[in-house]
Parts: sequence; C-alpha cells; structure tokens
Amino acid sequence: MVEPSAAPSADAAAPAPARRLRVLSGMQPTGRMHLGNYLGALRNWVALQDRYDCTFFVADYHSLTTVTDPATIRPAIAEMVMDWLAAGLDPERSVIFLQSDVPEVAELHLLLSMATPLGWLERVPSYKERLEQYPENINYGLLGYPVLQAADILLPRADRVPVGEDQAPHIELTREIARRFNGRFGQVFPEPEGLFTETPRVMGTDGVSKMSKSRGNTIGILDSPEQIRRTVMTMVTDVERPRRTDRGHPERCNVCALHRFFSPDRWEGIWEGEREARTGCVDVKRWLASAIADHFAPMRERRAELEARPGTVWEVLAAGADRARGAARETLDAARAACGLGHGQPAPAGLD
Ligand code: TRP
Repeated sequence: MVEPSAAPSADAAAPAPARRLRVLSGMQPTGRMHLGNYLGALRNWVALQDRYDCTFFVADYHSLTTVTDPATIRPAIAEMVMDWLAAGLDPERSVIFLQSDVPEVAELHLLLSMATPLGWLERVPSYKERLEQYPENINYGLLGYPVLQAADILLPRADRVPVGEDQAPHIELTREIARRFNGRFGQVFPEPEGLFTETPRVMGTDGVSKMSKSRGNTIGILDSPEQIRRTVMTMVTDVERPRRTDRGHPERCNVCALHRFFSPDRWEGIWEGEREARTGCVDVKRWLASAIADHFAPMRERRAELEARPGTVWEVLAAGADRARGAARETLDAARAACGLGHGQPAPAGLD
C-alpha cells in the first residue's frame, strides 16, 4: 500500500543529532479506531517509531471538557489502546501512557496559564466554534484546553508533534506560550514544531462529511470482514451516476478515493472501469470491502490476542506512565524553580 512518507524531509536532510528527536502526540479516548483515525494519524505514528523517540498518550483530561458520561471513558480508553497496539504502536520502543496517570501535567498547566494572555485563548478557532455552537455550555476547561495541550507537549520536552492541520493553531499557541514563559521566568522549554504529515481528508460513508464518530459515518478498521462489508455496501458513491450504464466520476466518488489507499496496485484500473461504465458501484464496493478487510487482517489477529488478555492494555499504560513521569518530574521541577516556587529545595540541574 502506498504510504506517504511519514517523515518530513527537513529532518531527513539534517545532520544526525546527538540524540534522536522526541515526538509526542495524543488523542482523546474515542474508542475503536476508524479509517479516518488510521489514515490521518495512527499509521503515521507507527511509522515514526523507526526514526524518533516517540511518546503517545490518551488525552483523558482533555475529554473531560466535553464528556457527558464519565463511565464511558474507561472502556473507550481500553478499546482505543487495543487498536493502537494492534496497529503496531510498540510499548518496547515508544512510551504509551494515560494523561491522568501523569498528574504533573496539571501543575504545569497551572504554571503555563500564568504566561498565557486570555486574548490568545479567546481567539483559538476550536474555542470560538464551540462558543458559537453551545454559548451557554462553556466551561473554564474548554478555554484552557490549548494550555493543557501545551503542557502535554512541553512536559516531555517534545521536539516534534505529529498532528493534523486542524491542530496547527494549538501547536502555534504552544510555541508562543513556551516563548513567553521562557522570556518571563527563564529559559526552560524548547519550542516544539508541528509535524504536519500529508494526511488525506477521509470522508465518511455518507460521502459528504468528514469521517467521524459523532456523525455515525465511520468504518472501523478492526471490524470483522462481515461488518466491514455491510458498512461499505451502505456507502454513498457517485451521485451523478444514477444508472449502471452511465459513465462514472471516480474523482468524486468516496469508494474510489479509498481504493487509492487500499488497492494500491489496481486503483487506476478501477477508476478507469468506473469512467467507462465497465463496472458498477456494487462491484467497486465489494472489492473495497475485501481490500480493507485484507489490509487489516494481521492487526485483527493481534487485537484478538489483546482481547483475550484484557489486562495487557492497563499494564502497558502503567509501565508507560512510570517512564513518562521521570522526564515530567525533571521538567516540572525546572519550571517550578524558574517561577520561584519550591523554596527549600535545591535548584534542579540543567536539562537538554
Ligand atoms: N487536541 C488533540 C486532538 O483533539 C489531542 C491532544 C491533546 C494532543 N494533547 C495533545 C495532540 C498534545 C498532540 C499533542 O486531536
């Protein structure tokens, strides 16, 4: 399958640094992964492990800004992390942890908030959208969401943050907060950079909006082949081709778009068949369903093993938290000392 290179060329061309660059990214606990999560983020994360020191975490504190039923969080964490591990995130190579297991991030969030002008937060696009949509349901945590995200990134002193374009304002804000903190309190934080890998905008089964759980238009990556087939058969295809004998417009068909990812050796032929009305939508969907099911077969197997040992996920997260807390403590001590806090304790040594 054609995987657009996950590594930015600038890093590839740079002389090898003394240490590997640190990568950090996170996701809110949304449960099982769908094709949008996979093509947009997860497969990049898996690839980045070869070249960077990676940390990936479940942003459960962040999910509290909008959660309606806290009882859903724990199962959503387990489902998501099982998919991460099945897809190839490797706890031997990467630190994989649960945000709230490293509560140092909450204290750093507090310290960073002192260096964050309110106006910066009020201008964040995701906050403004939320304010427009639910004006009477805005909590302080929502306004502070990007400050917490900055704390996530600055705590492990991440160099690179792989995220989608929609997160660019949050990364820029993280850099500005780091700069302002350093300017006011002393040089503590390196400025991280976003790693905006080329990620496709994956449309949902309805063909008109982005694939997302809240819209109910997803295809689960590790669903059974039968379930994948059922979902794919409901996909909206080329709406301008009412009859099988009409010529198709593969460039406007979501099923054809997905063939580019899952049928790398034959998608061009499939597109041609559509254009010339040699094939019908049902054919193209059937092929897509089996291409997707085949692609994820090894991962489905790994997931079945994880499901058979449900404790594994929690063990992985606990071990990850232990590792994450070491670096977190060092950074937090340096930040506290810079702010003049922690009297009576020796100033921490310099950090790299
Ligand atoms: N805001 C991110 C999202 O919605 C999730 C997130 C929280 C994150 N903290 C982060 C991503 C730190 C990268 C780095 O997708």
